[in-house]
Amino acid sequence: MTTATATAHANIALVKYWGKRDAERMLPATSSLSLTLDAFHTTTTVDLTDGADVDVALDGEALTGAALTKVQRFVDLVRGRDDVDPDVARRGARISSANTVPTGAGLASSASGFAALAGATAAAYGLDLTPRDLSRLARRGSGSASRSVFGDFVVWHAGDLEDPERGDLTSFAEPVPAAAGLDVAMAVVVLDAGPKSIGSREAMARTVATSPYFPAWVQHTEVDVREAEAAIAAGDLERLGDLAEASAMRMHATMLAARPAVRYLAPASLEVLDAVLGLRAAGTGAWATMDAGPNVKVLCAREDLDAVARVLADSGRRRVIPARPGPGLAVTR
Ligand code: DP6
Repeated sequence: MTTATATAHANIALVKYWGKRDAERMLPATSSLSLTLDAFHTTTTVDLTDGADVDVALDGEALTGAALTKVQRFVDLVRGRDDVDPDVARRGARISSANTVPTGAGLASSASGFAALAGATAAAYGLDLTPRDLSRLARRGSGSASRSVFGDFVVWHAGDLEDPERGDLTSFAEPVPAAAGLDVAMAVVVLDAGPKSIGSREAMARTVATSPYFPAWVQHTEVDVREAEAAIAAGDLERLGDLAEASAMRMHATMLAARPAVRYLAPASLEVLDAVLGLRAAGTGAWATMDAGPNVKVLCAREDLDAVARVLADSGRRRVIPARPGPGLAVTR
């Protein structure tokens, strides 16, 4: 049996990805930029089997329904490639995956999940892909997964907007070079680890189809990615934090304008946003970002992490997970 194991870490976008221009090829409407975190990861093992079936266990439970179909389609994408040996392509796979990310709670489990799956599946089926190729492949499972192939700051390029074939080749992630002194961290405030009211994929499609703010979102996001890259290169945390918080608020504004509205902000999220304002008013650099769930992630300098986490925890008896920049995808055959 051919076996491969891969580990990938979650990432949190500082300039958000929200909306696809091509759902089949998983091409985003805009570029985006993220920070990979050390605190949450997924480890996935793919064992090729003699039969053709693909079965999946996530944290020891068998996957069924739409979640299973999503993984099976992804494996089909890999074994359908021209560069996979036809004898190997016929084989099925037994996949087991373990998460340290609360699944479906807006803590980016699909990002680490599909990045780890891309790494392990490609290796098990005998492919030797570059990190860039792996980011393209991971993108086909979940857009944000393309960014979890790399550690630290990562940009995912929207790619060629005119031609979908070229878009598929040019929409990949890569590391963003950072100034030497830029030491960042993130305090992750966990407000609700339960399943979300509407999945991000459906919410994204609804936003693209119905939000009148969506074109403005697209226009500003490309500019924000360029500015965030410049802020990281210059080591300007204040500029980066300001851009990150603005991108998150704009993304939520865009989805609130969808019909029906997509609302992930909970009353407790707003309390944390207030606490972050309070930190800044008291002179501590802290900036909030939120994804497709109620949790709030707070970007700060590494030296301020303990103090920021303490203030956020104490202000509402909340669970706060301190996180630092994490590594890229690691594949072990
Ligand atoms: C809010 O990557 O989970 O976290 O591509 O449909 O799988 P699909 O969506 P996904 O969306 C992530 C959206 C976000 C923002 C971000 O990570 O950039």
